[in-house]
Amino acid sequence: MAKRDFLTLLDCSPAELGALTERAAELKRAHLAGEDHRSLTGRTGALILQLSSTRTRVAFEAGMAQLGGQAIFLSPADTQLGRGEPISDTARVLSEMVDVAMIRTLSHDDLETFAAAADIPVINAMTARYHPCQLLADVQTFEELRGPIGGRRVAFIADGYNKCNSYINAARQWGFELRLACPRGHEPSPATLAAGNAQLLETPEEAVEGAHLVVTDVWSSIGHEEEQAERQQRFAAYQVSETLLDQADDGTLFLHCLPAHRGEEVNATVLDDPRSGAWVAASNRLHSQKALLEFLLLG
Ligand code: CP
Repeated sequence: MAKRDFLTLLDCSPAELGALTERAAELKRAHLAGEDHRSLTGRTGALILQLSSTRTRVAFEAGMAQLGGQAIFLSPADTQLGRGEPISDTARVLSEMVDVAMIRTLSHDDLETFAAAADIPVINAMTARYHPCQLLADVQTFEELRGPIGGRRVAFIADGYNKCNSYINAARQWGFELRLACPRGHEPSPATLAAGNAQLLETPEEAVEGAHLVVTDVWSSIGHEEEQAERQQRFAAYQVSETLLDQADDGTLFLHCLPAHRGEEVNATVLDDPRSGAWVAASNRLHSQKALLEFLLLG
């Protein structure tokens, strides 16, 4: 079987992505029913995180264990990567020892370099450019709570950064309408916008009109911490609240990938509003990553 990587959502066909979210829902049902499902017995995964993580790390480690395999967490600080070993050399060596690698690093180019040198499947655990694993969980969650996402209207209210870019890819792959509200100067790049069919609107209120799904993200993503004070001013009008959701479709769903900064991109209460699926999406990170691991390792 030729190796497959998952660096962006465009590495899968729409049919494969549909099968992945269906499989994630099956794995969730089996997990909640207490069924043992060990499809990856004897398989090992390496998890390289150059940036902090809770959900992605635990989903990968717990997911590998639940499928009968095991995961090895590699902190760059404790490996030779932290002392300058080329990432392509690390990829060649790990390819001889483990069956899959998952990497979180700011540089998408580094991820691509690793994947090109590796003989094993490589998963993007988030870069500055894309966060495709989050989208698998978000789509699974929408479909679990509201039905098929194809043809629906989605509003993304935040920075035109990695999650926004993955929503632009997702709109292509799942066939939904995407309306963006990004503060001026924080829009996705013209090339990214041109490659998708998202509509850029002036205000969050315009973007959420009739939206079946409303999504936000932190104002200062990993890598932008030093801009925190400036962003708090620029993004102030972009906070998601119950009042903003009232302007969306009556059956709208709200998603946030977490961790959240209450008082910034969300007010203190909206994550616990009945329209919020943020906690379901967080739990679905486990099931969607298990489905992805099966897809890449078993075909
Ligand atoms: N949403 C997300 O990727 O969470 P972590 O940063 O905790 O992995």
